[in-house]
Amino acid sequence: METLNRIHTVRERVAAWRAEGARVGLVPTMGNLHDGHLSLVRLALEPADRVVVSVFVNPLQFGPGEDFNTYPRTSERDGELLAREGVDLVFAPTAFEMYPDGVDGTTIVDSPAFSGMLEGHFRPGHFAGVATVVTKLFNIITPDIAVFGDKDYQQLIVIRRLVRDLCLPIEVIGGPIVRERDGLAMSSRNQYLSQAERDHAPQLYRALCAAGKRIVDGERGWEDIETEGMVALTREGFEPDYFSVRRAQDLLPPREGDVEFVVLTAARLGRTRLIDNVRIRLG
Ligand code: PAJ
Repeated sequence: METLNRIHTVRERVAAWRAEGARVGLVPTMGNLHDGHLSLVRLALEPADRVVVSVFVNPLQFGPGEDFNTYPRTSERDGELLAREGVDLVFAPTAFEMYPDGVDGTTIVDSPAFSGMLEGHFRPGHFAGVATVVTKLFNIITPDIAVFGDKDYQQLIVIRRLVRDLCLPIEVIGGPIVRERDGLAMSSRNQYLSQAERDHAPQLYRALCAAGKRIVDGERGWEDIETEGMVALTREGFEPDYFSVRRAQDLLPPREGDVEFVVLTAARLGRTRLIDNVRIRLG
């Protein structure tokens, strides 16, 4: 496995693979890898002949007061884990390599259909930051396949839409959420939790599952389900930003006849902001 931090050398490697007819897979990450990330790597290794993992803490997707500076950076361990999985190339650029003219005033890719709702409402500019860096990674690596996690479900929807809108010849694959034994979705941010908060954190998933069960049981009062979720989380000591039932395909409010739903939530526990979701398919 090779680790490269310059765009032009990555382009050379990928061009050589393409000359051999290889199918190239990409898994974009911000590093500090856990089994959730590694599950995406495994999903990419199946259809692709060569797999690139990008590791870049993207300043453009962090808002003022968010955790850009404290976001855990563990490049050595990340490299060991990825080498063990059989990854071909790690692309770990500097911020200067990705934004030589700085982030202020840089050209932006945005999917306004999705970037202002839910997570985007509470993190203005976040999805434009994600869509922009992912477009840059797509242009650098030119993958045939790109894998993203259901954990950041709205992000996955934004990426699918940008690939359609910009006619990018890339197959986007979504990977299931990997959870700890007690149900907490794996996340680099879980390590911000104190022991007491960590013990309590699975209540977030429990609230989502309770909402999911109500939908499976035939309830269609979305607002009641959402309010109950907000109340339950608040009672458990969380500060929820949203708890919403949406259509799985486009994150719009559910309509008569829909059969695929997603319940999404974001909530602070102490100083840690956690996000999670569950999907429900009827029939
Ligand atoms: P990051 O948070 O590092 O996540 C990288 C990928 O891993 C994302 O597609 C995310 O959905 C997925 N992932 C995280 N936790 C997961 C879990 N428990 N189970 C399954 N998949 C999981 O998401 C980003 O980075 C960035 O926004 C990025 C796309 C790299 C752009 O900067």
